[in-house]
Amino acid sequence: MGKVVIRQAVDGDLPAMVRALGQKEYFGDRLNMQDGGHGLLLVAWKGGVAVGDVYVWLGAAEEPELRAHLPDVALITHLEVVAGRRGEGIGTELLRAAERRLWDLGHKQVALGVGLDNRDAQRLYARLGYTEWPHGQVSTTEVVYHPGGERELRPEICRIMVRSLDP
Ligand SMILES: CC(C)(COP(=O)(O)OP(=O)(O)OC[C@H]1O[C@@H](n2cnc3c(N)ncnc32)[C@H](O)[C@@H]1OP(=O)(O)O)[C@@H](O)C(=O)NCCC(=O)NCCS
Repeated sequence: MGKVVIRQAVDGDLPAMVRALGQKEYFGDRLNMQDGGHGLLLVAWKGGVAVGDVYVWLGAAEEPELRAHLPDVALITHLEVVAGRRGEGIGTELLRAAERRLWDLGHKQVALGVGLDNRDAQRLYARLGYTEWPHGQVSTTEVVYHPGGERELRPEICRIMVRSLDP
């Protein structure tokens, strides 16, 4: 099926992204936010099919703890790889692509929140050089988009993990 290509999404990608990844409302929202300069939606494609994505949040963090301890830090959010293609290195490639973009934009550091129970993802981030910050766990709100269009706000306690981007 060829190699994985990662690129910034454009509005015209939405139908193909939704076919493979669902979450029409989420991706519609993020494309709008990207258009407004808020962040970057990066999508991994394999053989023309979307296989994963990550949204790089450049705007102010929603969590007051992040704004207090890491003002202006960029956040890796919503990293995901389709269930059938996990464990092939695509998540790692998406993270590295996000980090490269941030470095090119002048960022020196990146952060992300990972759910307390998500041990697999925590191991992945640790292997890629992320360490937990010393300021404790943080309550976040996960926005779940239902197929009917309604949004559900789900509280989630996260570990905050940080990595220096300096090569
Ligand atoms: C976390 C995730 C993005 C990793 O993507 P990936 O393409 O499988 O990652 P890679 O192939 O680059 O690395 C594999 C590592 O991912 C982790 N991983 C997490 N879930 C996994 C799964 N279902 N299958 C395989 N690896 C998984 C493992 O730690 C694995 O490392 P290991 O070799 O130490 O076991 C992906 O598993 C996913 O979409 N999970 C569900 C959504 C999620 O939890 N996102 C993170 C939110 S903070």
